[in-house]
Amino acid sequence: MAEVTALDYLTPLRSGGSVPGIVETDDLGTYVVKFCGAAQGRKALVAELIVGELGRRLGLPVPELVLVRFDPLVAEQEPDPEVQDILRASAGLNLGMDFLPGAQDFAPRQLPPQLAVTPAEAGRVVWFDALVGNVDRTVHSPNLMVWHRRLWLIDHGAALIFHHRWSGARDAVARRYPMTDHALGAFAPDVAAADAALAPLVTAELLGEVVGLVPDEWLADEPGFDSPEQQRQAYTAHLAARAARSQAWLPEGFADAEELARAEAARVAATLAGRPAWLQHVRAG
Ligand SMILES: Nc1ncnc2c1ncn2[C@@H]1O[C@H](COP(=O)(O)OP(=O)(O)O)[C@@H](O)[C@H]1O
Ligand SMILES: [Mg+2]
Repeated sequence: MAEVTALDYLTPLRSGGSVPGIVETDDLGTYVVKFCGAAQGRKALVAELIVGELGRRLGLPVPELVLVRFDPLVAEQEPDPEVQDILRASAGLNLGMDFLPGAQDFAPRQLPPQLAVTPAEAGRVVWFDALVGNVDRTVHSPNLMVWHRRLWLIDHGAALIFHHRWSGARDAVARRYPMTDHALGAFAPDVAAADAALAPLVTAELLGEVVGLVPDEWLADEPGFDSPEQQRQAYTAHLAARAARSQAWLPEGFADAEELARAEAARVAATLAGRPAWLQHVRAG
């Protein structure tokens, strides 16, 4: 995986929780950088790297990832003290995702007509999220972008929940995750076809390659492990075992478009009902 050096910190992105930043680097690149000093910590970066890179190697549309060497001095001019706290705690390696200029956050009701999300594509994304336990791709928080007439998958820091409690990881191997409000659930995801195509590709060899990209400094001092290498083996073994057990966790039971529309209408009505009369005409977003 390429390693680049941050030259300038341009601006924080505040829409989600982890306050990533847009950073220019010495390869003339512009990246959305997830910082190791953010509240989510190093494990969010481990998940971003393993899940993003695995997805890309399985043919899912994930922007390129790089390791970004960061010196907090390059962001000295950032005025927000909370952002400064994150940046000062992030010296060393951080995770960069290629910045997609002009990309739009995914909004199912405003999809460009050229972009048709097929059942096959929706199925691959849902299947993949179920494999890696990504519960952060919902209708409320899609973490999908639309760019050059395609969907792009971003923000995998909340996946691999099992690594927050390794002692219970074994029990999670065959666990179903709640996928009913998945962002692509209304696009008739063909999960069975995705399983047939993708499960055989998730081999211990592929996983070993991907997990091997995680820098030692993100794996240091994990209780219960003697070395970063031992931890890498645990990630590989867990994900290989889960891929082999897909019949146990294949997601099912999505709300169709009509059910989602009804739920949305009920939500809007509830929001409006809670407002004083003089505000009732303003659209509930
Ligand atoms: N590669 C990218 N290119 C362009 N914009 C991005 C990219 N990655 C993230 N963004 C924008 O930044 C926002 C926050 O990024 P995200 O990875 O979801 O972090 P978090 O939700 O943890 O704050 C996204 O909703 C999106 O609008
Ligand atoms: Mg997000």
